[in-house]
Amino acid sequence: MSDFQLTRTLDEDAADKALRADVLNGLTRFPKELPPKWFYDARGSELFEEITRLPEYYPTRAERQILLERAGEIAVVSGARTLVELGSGSSEKTRHLIEAMPGLRTYVPVDVSESALTGAGELLLAQHPGLRVHALLADFTKPLHLPDSEGPRLVVFLGGTIGNLLPPERAEFLASVRAMLSPGDALLLGTDLVKDEAVLVAAYDDAQGVTAEFNKNVLAVIDRELGADFHTADFDHVAVWNREREWIEMRLRARQAVTVKVRALDLLVPFEAGEDILTEISAKFRQDGVRKELAGAGLELTHWWTDASGRFALSLSVAGG
Ligand code: AVJ
Repeated sequence: MSDFQLTRTLDEDAADKALRADVLNGLTRFPKELPPKWFYDARGSELFEEITRLPEYYPTRAERQILLERAGEIAVVSGARTLVELGSGSSEKTRHLIEAMPGLRTYVPVDVSESALTGAGELLLAQHPGLRVHALLADFTKPLHLPDSEGPRLVVFLGGTIGNLLPPERAEFLASVRAMLSPGDALLLGTDLVKDEAVLVAAYDDAQGVTAEFNKNVLAVIDRELGADFHTADFDHVAVWNREREWIEMRLRARQAVTVKVRALDLLVPFEAGEDILTEISAKFRQDGVRKELAGAGLELTHWWTDASGRFALSLSVAGG
């Protein structure tokens, strides 16, 4: 008896089309860029899990600390019967929340990785036999159709992943979250905070080179899926703090002039020596900015919790009038 259901709103074909469009757009413009969502094939997801255990990568531990400390409060304040998690990945941190929510009936993990969804679903159901798990294979940056389930709903978006979006994309995303909420529902949002540059850069350029491998994995994905001939050894991993925009930029920098062929697109992509592909921004936040961005989407910040050293924050907001 397993109460697990998976709804696919992403078919292989749509994913393939999206990858082609992103690669064509991103590698024929200047500066070159690739969206971070293509990091996360099975290997990339594994590398990300490894990143979360690195000594330099504090956000996962900081956020877990807040969740452990505040899960009971979040459960009471939200009163949630349905928990929707956007970008659920391994659902590892959410476990603390689920354990603190005796009233919870339905968990809706939303992710682009089917392996992550089924793996996490099986594990959760083994531990919570009464729980209904309705997984959604979907891209959370697109409007979502949530399965019917009992309210109140708590939508959670953890890990600081909102920082991967540009400000206008964040506004659009928060508006779409707002549209999922009915009166009495809430959003729990994880945001990494602005801090010392050296700490930030180290978190995205670890000594063991795991983040470098994670970054370069996007090239392996394009090689495999689109028959490209990127050689990861031709590129260096770069992490820089953009002080004006208050975000980390991850880039892949060509070590020398090279031309890459992308067979499926019939495309030749020339790189100059030292030329970058921007592969990810990871924005860092301040409380005031988070409050304003939420307010801009009609969400009122009601709670703000940080870890003991103030590195990371969880905010709770509700649909305002
Ligand atoms: C999963 C998006 C929160 O931006 O910190 C980790 C991804 N990139 N190391 C982040 C990531 C490089 C991570 N998020």
